Amino acid sequence: MSETEQQQEWTPIHGAPYRSVPYRPQRMPEAESLAHAAELRTRMDERRTVRQFATDPVPAQVVRDAIACAATAPSGAHQQPWTFVLVQDPEIRRRIREAAEHEEQISYDGRLGEEWLAALRPLGTDEVKPHLTDAPALIVVFQQRYWLGEDGTKHKHYYVDESVGIAVGMLLSALHLSGLAALIHTPSPMRFLSQVLGRPENEKAFAVIPVGYPAADCEVPDLVRKSLDQVLVEV
Ligand SMILES: Cc1cc2nc3c(=O)[nH]c(=O)nc-3n(C[C@H](O)[C@H](O)[C@H](O)COP(=O)(O)O)c2cc1C
Repeated sequence: MSETEQQQEWTPIHGAPYRSVPYRPQRMPEAESLAHAAELRTRMDERRTVRQFATDPVPAQVVRDAIACAATAPSGAHQQPWTFVLVQDPEIRRRIREAAEHEEQISYDGRLGEEWLAALRPLGTDEVKPHLTDAPALIVVFQQRYWLGEDGTKHKHYYVDESVGIAVGMLLSALHLSGLAALIHTPSPMRFLSQVLGRPENEKAFAVIPVGYPAADCEVPDLVRKSLDQVLVEV
């Protein structure tokens, strides 16, 4: 833990009065801003979802730093309703794979329905999930649906899906920009993740994110992204 982390311990602010601190970031010159934006756009366009991983280890601190980036995400009422479980233990990864493949087998055998299976066909995915044991690290993301006060009272969290979705987007970006490959995997249903990882009742699994380096013979689906014109409306 760094010195800054030790100094600034987070406490819930539920019901606390408004307080403010100055915020005066230095304004970036326009030319620099344009250069950063163009470079970032290129770098982000290079990100691909990887499903074939090398078994080589990754520097755990890079993954921890990416999780720290994700935890800077904005969240509804600043409730930060997320938990990231970093799994490197091979036995736990094996158990997660076994349980995920069990659910995925049922899904691909018919639970998904023809419409969903048709949407997945261009991705070439099936019920076999070697990435869960090949990738040296898994980040299992949980949403905290509510928090418990000291007296055991349940307090609602607001905009949990949106907040955790944004945090995961930032996590995937941070991993990519730090040189690691990832896959956001959402086996359905995901209840087994709470059981395998012993998570408390207020947490619901959101996704499993294998992290590592692409295998030497890695291939990805031949996909084309929508152009800016197709996604941007300027008024
Ligand atoms: C919410 C969400 C759930 C996803 N779930 C899965 C999944 O369970 N298995 C999988 O192989 N890919 C999954 N993906 C990855 C998408 O298939 C992938 O992002 C998409 O095909 C675009 O490819 P790209 O990320 O390489 O641009 C998921 C992506 C998102 C955003």
